[in-house]
Amino acid sequence: MKRKILVTSALPYANGAIHLGHMVEHIQTDIWVRFQKMRGHECHSVCADDTHGTPIMLRAEKEGITPEQLIAGVAKEHVRDFEGFYVNYDNYGSTHSEENREFSYRIYNALKANGKIANRTISQLYDPQKNMFLPDRFVKGECPKCHSKDQYGDNCEVCGTTYSPTDLINPYSAVSGATPELRDSEHYFFKLGDCEAFLRGWTTGTATVNGGERPRLQEGAANKLNEWFEAGLNDWDISRDAPYFGFEIPDAPGKYFYVWLDAPVGYMASHKQLCQRLGLDFDSYWNKDSNAELYHHIGKDILYFHALFWPAMLEYAGYRTPTGINAHGFLTVDGQKMSKSRGTFITAESYLRHLNPEWLRYYFAAKLNSAIEDLDLNLDDFVARVNSDLIGKYVNIASRAAGFISKRFNNTLAADLGDAGPLAELQNAAEGIAAQWENREYSRAVRDIMALTDLVNQYVDAHKPWEIAKQEGQDAELQRVCSVLINAFRILTIYLKPVLPKLAADVEAFLNVGPLTWQDAGTLLTRHSINTYQHLMTRVDGKNIEAMIEENKQSLAPVAEVAKPDYEIPEIEPTISIDDFMKIDLRVAKIVDAKHVEGAEKLLQLTLDIGTETRNVFAGIKSAYKPEDLIGRHTVMVANLAPRKMKFGMSEGMVLAAGGDGGLYVLTPDLGAKPGMRVK
Ligand code: MSP
Ligand code: ZN
Repeated sequence: MKRKILVTSALPYANGAIHLGHMVEHIQTDIWVRFQKMRGHECHSVCADDTHGTPIMLRAEKEGITPEQLIAGVAKEHVRDFEGFYVNYDNYGSTHSEENREFSYRIYNALKANGKIANRTISQLYDPQKNMFLPDRFVKGECPKCHSKDQYGDNCEVCGTTYSPTDLINPYSAVSGATPELRDSEHYFFKLGDCEAFLRGWTTGTATVNGGERPRLQEGAANKLNEWFEAGLNDWDISRDAPYFGFEIPDAPGKYFYVWLDAPVGYMASHKQLCQRLGLDFDSYWNKDSNAELYHHIGKDILYFHALFWPAMLEYAGYRTPTGINAHGFLTVDGQKMSKSRGTFITAESYLRHLNPEWLRYYFAAKLNSAIEDLDLNLDDFVARVNSDLIGKYVNIASRAAGFISKRFNNTLAADLGDAGPLAELQNAAEGIAAQWENREYSRAVRDIMALTDLVNQYVDAHKPWEIAKQEGQDAELQRVCSVLINAFRILTIYLKPVLPKLAADVEAFLNVGPLTWQDAGTLLTRHSINTYQHLMTRVDGKNIEAMIEENKQSLAPVAEVAKPDYEIPEIEPTISIDDFMKIDLRVAKIVDAKHVEGAEKLLQLTLDIGTETRNVFAGIKSAYKPEDLIGRHTVMVANLAPRKMKFGMSEGMVLAAGGDGGLYVLTPDLGAKPGMRVK
């Protein structure tokens, strides 16, 4: 029976690069989807960037661009990285899309009509300088327990205590440095507590898959949920006050959906785009009576959102709920949490610069299972497994047989395979291996496939084609043995194709066959002409791994720019003494106002707060900045420059900007610097 399946990966945040931790998830998803497609099912995968929230808004501001510009740039990088690993989503969208706005409104309105939305006033820390409420992570201060300084508002990294931001001693805003105040604000809540009976049933229930019943959650997840039910379900705060980068709540001006409200809706929005492009029936996937399967692949850290909030939102907004939530553990490198200083926080981009993506796909597959377990990338083991299993046991089968077929038999396989050695056993393994991929027991699938390669290599050792080749009158036998090996290689390639899509495509070209499907394992190639063998894959060299680790260490250093610049760099000016430099009084300044100047082509008029006074400065930055984008920012000014009378008024200093023909960039001090601080 042809199944209809939709699969998703969690939507990566648009405020950072894709790293190998993310890749555990995306590779796992991609393997499963490719397997289902090979089985002939109608299976699609969608993903998107998760673009809303305070961190993205503030990062854009810091970089002097709009959030829309920021997320557009990041989306390009994310898509490039996924393509680099042959992770092919049928649609890759964004939560900042019209489709997502529409579904978010629809779901919110339905929940409201169903009595599942409440509002009440809460008190929250507010930054009076930046005029915004502060998320916990943006309040810092002294830990109330161990008195370590500069700890975040939700927990202390030194002693591990969790607390609320109002417990911090001497709290300050990580955005402006100001002392936060408690202020009241009305918030909207999703009444999760009201959904408990439904959720208890849903999370312990099963879904019908392919005629059988399958639990919706893994055992480890079900246990975790029990703990949450025991602790009691709290109403969920789904609104945030302006300024916020997100969707404004329809009937509540100045209130925005919290990023996690519209993030999972992004699955629907991305799928909607796919349906529109391919002419698929979206509703048949999302209606309550849908017979399509829906799976979300996620990390263990976001189980609460996917196993509680999301099914409850769908249920009470009138949609179907997921068939299964497939959670995985976290990636460690050499047994430890990924670390920037050790160079093991490896970005996808840097991996791709040094290593073959299919090596990692293979290694992850060899270690993944259906449980919520952490997965270790042990770098020595990585080299050993790829070289001994993937190259030594599998790829070598082809290279040992192909030469004889081309040189001695004009690239033609034997008409009769005679006693076909291990081929029957290889073919009989098809359904067993399919079941391992289906059940997400990837490591077992790989283990079973490698056991089959052992059988084939025993056949090679027993028949020694290189010796038959030396014997008179043994041509037919040589052709037969090598043809058995090429057939074995073809079947192994089918089983590995979900993991190694690029290699499989190269093998298809070599074998002169169309795209291999699972069914093809049931047939054999005889009297068939193949193409001349070309090297399929190289061995891993430890040196490349070292180079990659080194590069990830360096990416921490702020100015380790090694790329050749594509703009003019002027010569360094003659040396000055420290005393010369100290004559220049540089101060942190807050831009409290910025205006166009009538009649001036290049100038903006800035009002700068330097702590004890304000200054009026005309700055030649009109070509690069809009006044409204500058207001509220901190910068650096020369505070003791002689005032200069200009056509438009007196200019009382100068702001610092980098530039030339490569653009113009006003300097910004790190977060926390306050007006009037001296820069030296
Ligand atoms: N934006 C949210 C997800 C919204 S889904 C509606 C998010 N983004 S994330 O970028 O932080 O993480 C994306 C996925 O990558 C999550 O499933 C997360 O668990 C996974 N991983 C992030 N770091 C990881 C590891 N180190 N190891 C394995 N998976 C990791 O959460
Ligand atoms: Zn502490």
